[in-house]
Amino acid sequence: MNKNILNATINAILSKGKGILAADETPSNIGKKFEVLHIENTAENRRRYREMLFAAPGIETYISGVIMQDETINQFNSHGQEFSAALKEKGVLSGIKVDLGVAPFNDDSIETITKGLEGLGERLDRYKEHHATFAKWRAVIHIDPSQGKPTTEAIRANVEALAKYALICQQHDIVPIVEPEVLMDGVHSLDVSHQVTSTVLSTLFDALNQKGVYLEGILLKPNMVIAGLMCPDQPTPERVAQKTLDCFKNTVSSDVPGIVFLSGGQRDDLAIKHLALMNQTTDLPWVLSFSYGRALQRKALTTWKGQDANVPAAQEAFIEQARLNSLATLGQL
Ligand code: G3H
Repeated sequence: MNKNILNATINAILSKGKGILAADETPSNIGKKFEVLHIENTAENRRRYREMLFAAPGIETYISGVIMQDETINQFNSHGQEFSAALKEKGVLSGIKVDLGVAPFNDDSIETITKGLEGLGERLDRYKEHHATFAKWRAVIHIDPSQGKPTTEAIRANVEALAKYALICQQHDIVPIVEPEVLMDGVHSLDVSHQVTSTVLSTLFDALNQKGVYLEGILLKPNMVIAGLMCPDQPTPERVAQKTLDCFKNTVSSDVPGIVFLSGGQRDDLAIKHLALMNQTTDLPWVLSFSYGRALQRKALTTWKGQDANVPAAQEAFIEQARLNSLATLGQL
């Protein structure tokens, strides 16, 4: 493990006013979004969509890194240049989703365990040839108190896998983005989200410490502490910001240099507002930024609609979202 390489990558990702574009939807996941817009889900259309985003003029002003998945990191732009090489030329780092999705946990219908540890080291070596400097692994935690979910066993298994993944990445000089996502689906209250997220994060840090993961060399990508989407009692943005920070202050090591949030299905404006409010708090030990998928791409995708003629307007929509999120990292609304 070369700590200097890990630290340099993290410093670049956490450059002031910048965040990460998560464009690592699997072909089937992006296909669901395409279907709504009547865009055929082909490798070429997925490539055209990603080119629209990555080639957006000025992307490097607000975006320090892009997360891709296997298909995309192997694709080329219309000038015949690998996406990762074109991004590198603009000073944007390439990241790679290395988990292989989720499988049922103990034959449970809701709980899952994330797969992908087998052969991970060899895959990382291959991705490094495509300029990857950081990686992502997403663990998914479901809340359903009426069914006793999440179970301690599912939390433990998922954070163990996250810790193993993080160590393997670091041994290959790749910065691991550690993503334990507590889903927003459900009717649970803000307090339940706070309690579950706190348990998940403390269990995660126990596992990371036990495995000897270099905490200064990871980025944490958590959910914000938010009430379930179907909860009738929705908290104010100020309350979400306060509960989220309260949770992290009690669970996240101050050795971790940065927290790059996922948007998790929040409305675009709320993802921006929550981040801005948290960044108005001074004396936090971590940089707080974004690693958003939906909250950065929603408007761009619906503007693009698969049509070349819409590329400039779609790029403008994407850059505007990136700009607003950049302001949020500076505490500005
Ligand atoms: O794993 C999740 C993505 O990287 C972030 O996506 O911002 O739409 O939740 P999201």
